[in-house]
Amino acid sequence: MISESEYKSRRDRLATSLNSYSIAIIHSALHKTRSNDTEYPYRQDSNFYYLTGYKEDNSCLMILKKKKKYKTILFVEKKDERRELWNGKRLGKKAAKKVFSVDNIYEIDCFEKKFTKKSSLKQHLYYDFKLNYLRFKALKRISKGINTHINIAKNIEKMRLIKSPSEIKIIKKAIKISKTAHHQAMKVKKTDKYEYELQAVFENIFKLHGAYSDAYTSIIAGGNSANTLHYIENNQKLKNDDLILIDAGCEYDYYASDITRTIPVNAKFTQPQKELYNMVLDVQVKIIDMIKPGVKRSFLQSESEKLLCDGMVKLGILKGKVKKLLKQKKHKKYYPHGIGHWMGIDVHDEAPYTDKFGKEIVLSAGMVLTIEPGIYCNKDDLSISEKYRGIGVRIEDDILVSKKGYKNLSSNIVKNVEDIEAIGTLL
Ligand code: GLY
Ligand code: MN
Ligand code: MN
Repeated sequence: MISESEYKSRRDRLATSLNSYSIAIIHSALHKTRSNDTEYPYRQDSNFYYLTGYKEDNSCLMILKKKKKYKTILFVEKKDERRELWNGKRLGKKAAKKVFSVDNIYEIDCFEKKFTKKSSLKQHLYYDFKLNYLRFKALKRISKGINTHINIAKNIEKMRLIKSPSEIKIIKKAIKISKTAHHQAMKVKKTDKYEYELQAVFENIFKLHGAYSDAYTSIIAGGNSANTLHYIENNQKLKNDDLILIDAGCEYDYYASDITRTIPVNAKFTQPQKELYNMVLDVQVKIIDMIKPGVKRSFLQSESEKLLCDGMVKLGILKGKVKKLLKQKKHKKYYPHGIGHWMGIDVHDEAPYTDKFGKEIVLSAGMVLTIEPGIYCNKDDLSISEKYRGIGVRIEDDILVSKKGYKNLSSNIVKNVEDIEAIGTLL
């Protein structure tokens, strides 16, 4: 749970980062049509949520800044019994006043009028262009005094880079629920089941533990499907002797978890599977161990490429000298993706990787990132030994950078061959 005083301090920090004589508008998310008149479940915009914790649609945060002083205003949907009968209860202006530490609260109906009036005295308009470009253009049209338009998302996303203790607590909870699901998936009998049956195990456990949703569509990839990086069809029958790559994590109270485990369908790794798996695991453990403040993500990337390339040469997947293979980028065929990404309110958290001068941001305490090396050997790749064809392995954990090093937040989700085999044969 994030306290209102923490939300307020975020708004204060954001307001301090704005130019003098500016007006900032941060809207709630829009609804998304699924088909005809049905919609996807509503999810609040991550930046708006970060600043307010408010989950209702049709709302908006406005910051008005003079030279140094500023005011924060929240616009909320008005209470309307008839509409609430269909769409559920609204907090409304009166109750919102008790919840939010802002200077003023108005009903959203007044937004345009207030905006026209307040913006006429300002020079800069801050807005998240990506969120609703049409609305931004409409605001631009009615704003009289404004002469510059600045993307506010950058200011907010910079703040999202460092997680507070209360954010870390929620991320830990999300990971704990995902752990229960991954362990259950390891335990259940899988031979002759369909991938979506395993997906159901995850969705069931997520919901049973109060996780609103998955943080992204689960990847449940049996056998060669693991070699499609974003495989989400999850509709194939699982085969004995195959591995399953499971990339699944829940979102709990607006915070993500992002975990990948690669496990055998029948609880026992074959020799070639074990060779590939242990090679990737060894690299993953080594890369995680390099994490500490001051280290660059690009360093972790290049080290992971070196180590995986070396591992592939040792297994005979790549032939030649590691240095030359790296230079020729031969390893990219089998390890085509990044070593990891920021994680937080979004699974790929919208926090910057470079500063405003384009310089890479180094790791520092409070950042959360994933480490997820993988090797993908397509079944049709005749250049590799037959025993490895059709095997894809990725192992992914969520890491908190600490003052002196790191804490692997998902370290208690089993990942050694012996432990996976042991948990799998329990039933
Ligand atoms: N689950 C998406 C990713 O690992 O980046
Ligand atoms: Mn990831
Ligand atoms: Mn993932």
